[in-house]
Amino acid sequence: MADHITKIEEITASEAPMDLLLQADPSIKNVKNYLRQSKCFIAKLEDQIVGACVVKPISKNTHELMNISVDPKYQKTGIGRNLLQYVIIATREAKARRLEVGTGTFGYQLAFYQREGFRVYSIEKNFFLVNYEEPIYEDGIQLKDMLRLMLEFERD
Ligand SMILES: CC(C)(COP(=O)(O)OP(=O)(O)OC[C@H]1O[C@@H](n2cnc3c(N)ncnc32)[C@H](O)[C@@H]1OP(=O)(O)O)[C@@H](O)C(=O)NCCC(=O)NCCS
Repeated sequence: MADHITKIEEITASEAPMDLLLQADPSIKNVKNYLRQSKCFIAKLEDQIVGACVVKPISKNTHELMNISVDPKYQKTGIGRNLLQYVIIATREAKARRLEVGTGTFGYQLAFYQREGFRVYSIEKNFFLVNYEEPIYEDGIQLKDMLRLMLEFERD
């Protein structure tokens, strides 16, 4: 496991590792657009950036996880889970009531989020067809609809 040697820190949008963010969201236009209004967190292994996560406050109570990505060479070593747990705590500490995320309707990412307590609450039909110029495939299946997941924080 990489847990004990990764360090997570917040950086400015201008320092965001675009190569990593584009792996999770292939639209450079979308990424640049939400980065401007978001917080960006990175996971570092010594001096190398191996993971990144972008969270956008969309209202006082609701923040949205816009992007989370780990360098393929380091995936499945716990870095993604560490990063997700870190931003959940940071969002809670920022006094938001909930953290939302949109993801595809299939794939391991669904378990990745639900393991940390996210629940499905709605579906946006045709989201990936309407919002992306190029078709997106995962495991040979075209992504079409988006599931919206939410993690609600208990009031202190
Ligand atoms: C999603 C992502 C950030 C997870 O990061 P990670 O560092 O690989 O995740 P972790 O090592 O913490 O693994 C968490 C769980 O996800 C599973 N997982 C991660 N990648 C997987 C893969 N490619 N296939 C199957 N399961 C996978 C792990 O096996 C682990 O489950 P386990 O503990 O039961 O074994 C990373 O895989 C990634 O960058 N994917 C591409 C971009 C993306 O899809 N982002 C999310 C957009 S919604």
